Amino acid sequence: MSPTLQNPSSPSLPATLRPGISLDWLSANDASSLGDYFAALSAESKRRFQPHPLTHAWAAELCATRNPAVRRLVLRAGRQIIGYFILDPTVGVDELTRYAALGVLLESGRDWLFAPSVADTHQNQGLASKAMPHLIALARQAGARSLVLMGGTQGTNARAIAFYEKSGFERCGGYQTDQWNHDMRLRLGP
Ligand SMILES: CC(C)(COP(=O)(O)OP(=O)(O)OC[C@H]1O[C@@H](n2cnc3c(N)ncnc32)[C@H](O)[C@@H]1OP(=O)(O)O)[C@@H](O)C(=O)NCCC(=O)NCCS
Repeated sequence: MSPTLQNPSSPSLPATLRPGISLDWLSANDASSLGDYFAALSAESKRRFQPHPLTHAWAAELCATRNPAVRRLVLRAGRQIIGYFILDPTVGVDELTRYAALGVLLESGRDWLFAPSVADTHQNQGLASKAMPHLIALARQAGARSLVLMGGTQGTNARAIAFYEKSGFERCGGYQTDQWNHDMRLRLGP
C-alpha cells in the first residue's frame, strides 16, 4: 500500500464511485500522475480552478510535503488521476473578509474551504456529484459545520454553479474581478 498524505485509517476510502473509478487520498507516490493531471487540464478548466499552481513542480511539492490538516483527495481511474479535491480547514483572509461583510463569521476548523476539479475528459458525468457525499462525510467527521468555496466560483461557470446548487450550496454574495464571482457555502450543521 502506498504512503498516503492523509489519515490512512479512514474507514470510507477508497470509495468506488463507479466501476473502475474511485475516490482516494492523494498519496506521496502520486507526484507524477497528479502533475500529468494538472498538465492535461484545458485552459478553460485551469482558468476556473486556480487554488495553486497547476504544474508538475507543484504536484511534486504537494506530494512531498505532508500537511495533515489539508485533506487532498483524488479520483483514480487505474493509475491515472482524473479528479482532485481540496478540503482545507484554514479559512483565508479573503473569505473571512468577504463573509464578514455579510455578517457571517467564518471560523477555521469549523468552516472548511473546498475546491473541486475533474478532468475535462470526465466532466459532466456525475463524478463530482458522486464524490460529494464522501467529501461531506469526511469534513463532518473532522468537525466541519460548513463548506465554503475557495475563492468562490466565476459567474460564467454554469456547470460548477449547477453542481454546487445541486449539492446544496447557497449563494452568499460575491465579488467582482474581470467578472462577477459568487461566494457559495454549504451548511452541514448548526
Ligand atoms: C465543476 C466540476 C468540478 C463539476 O464536476 P462534474 O463531475 O463535471 O459535475 P457533475 O457531472 O457531477 O455535475 C454537473 C452538473 O452540471 C450540469 N451542467 C453542466 N453544464 C451545465 C450548464 N452549462 N448549465 C447548467 N447546468 C449544467 C450537469 O447537467 C450536471 O447536473 P445533473 O447531474 O443534474 O445533470 C467540473 O466540471 C470541473 O472540474 N470543472 C472545471 C474546473 C472547475 O470549474 N472547478 C470549480 C471551480 S469553482
